[in-house]
Amino acid sequence: TLDDKAEALLRELILFDEVDSTNAQLLSLMEEGSGHAIAILSERQSAGRGRRGRRWISPYASGISLSVGWEFNGGVQCLEGLSLAVGVAIARALNRFSVPDIRLKWPNDVWCRGRKLAGVLLELKGDLTDRCAVVIGIGLNSGLRDSCASAIDQPWADLQQVKPGIPRNQLAAALLTELLPVLDSYTELGFGAYRDAWMQLDQFAGREVTLQAGNQTWKGVAAGVSRGGALILNMDGELRHFHGGEISLRGQ
Ligand code: BTN
Repeated sequence: TLDDKAEALLRELILFDEVDSTNAQLLSLMEEGSGHAIAILSERQSAGRGRRGRRWISPYASGISLSVGWEFNGGVQCLEGLSLAVGVAIARALNRFSVPDIRLKWPNDVWCRGRKLAGVLLELKGDLTDRCAVVIGIGLNSGLRDSCASAIDQPWADLQQVKPGIPRNQLAAALLTELLPVLDSYTELGFGAYRDAWMQLDQFAGREVTLQAGNQTWKGVAAGVSRGGALILNMDGELRHFHGGEISLRGQ
């Protein structure tokens, strides 16, 4: 069950046994003016999408595959930092179940004990100048079997191993309860309202990191995020801001 506020913000919740991708389904379902939130949950995805064209492995009953569609008034520029705010909402949802050692990795991964527990994929629809519809996809591992491990190309964490026994439907409800109010107030508040919370959960704060975009790399010490959600690197005393997109971050 959702709390009253989230309940009022959710217009429709669609449950699937199997889909190609909850993001893809929602993108095709959302029409202009469809207003506020439609959410899709699926037990399994046959073609789950990850960031940067990757696959997201989501076999039957192995976690949460959730997409939420929201229409924002304002152009795409007012969504700067949204994926980081979504990370904070996921961390807060996990905190409701006292899941330990949750950290955030810029721009939008949720880590646990040095491995990736959940990822966020934002996809946009609309003219993007004065209104845009956004699909916020959240994938979280819970109950992945070892047989899937070889298909995942990075170190992953699993909620069942970190904190067993959290019912997936309760976790999905907690995610919606934390996420919907963030979306509702985002145009007004922006990422600034979540920046402190993000910085407190920063996996790499103060650590040497390497940033990679295409074949360019930058090295520096991670110095948190700006009010707009840009990553700040201290490169020999000079603070440089990096914006999302195709950049990936690695710790040393
Ligand atoms: C990442 O690469 O870290 C983002 C992964 C996002 C996966 C979720 S699962 C629900 C939604 N539907 C998709 O196809 N992808 C997102």
